Amino acid sequence: MTRLVDLFIAWAVKRAGGEDAGQEVVTFEDRHEFWRYAPFWPDEFVSRSGKHWSRPPWWRPFNVLLHHWDPDKDAAEPMHDHPRWSVTICLRGKIIERTPWGERVLTPGSIVLRSRKAIHSFVVPEGFSGGTWTLFIVGRRNYPQNTYVVTQRGVV
Ligand SMILES: [Fe+2]
Repeated sequence: MTRLVDLFIAWAVKRAGGEDAGQEVVTFEDRHEFWRYAPFWPDEFVSRSGKHWSRPPWWRPFNVLLHHWDPDKDAAEPMHDHPRWSVTICLRGKIIERTPWGERVLTPGSIVLRSRKAIHSFVVPEGFSGGTWTLFIVGRRNYPQNTYVVTQRGVV
């Protein structure tokens, strides 16, 4: 199974245009967090008229993105939601998903389904930076994205 996953990752990176085609994703504080590959179609694009599109057209109601996690040591992801539904599948390595209510460790084979209202943040545990890959399957961006501050009493 591991070999199959490795082959899939290699295929997806190549199909997305190779390692150099990875799109850098940073935290809200501009710290490097992971590289994103879009093996099927771009998640954002600039049309011929120069307009920036972050919402794929209706005939592409979802996208499949490959994430390679190698965050900066001081990269801290705040609690946030996403502008669309999402599914995370851990392919390799290990990643901790925190929610306002607890946390869970995702290992290869872990699958998490989220509505667009789900609140979370990710932390890559010591020793897994650079070795963690996840598949991020998402719907179209239909909502704004929000960050949250979690206090003892709940989400503010
Ligand atoms: Fe997220």
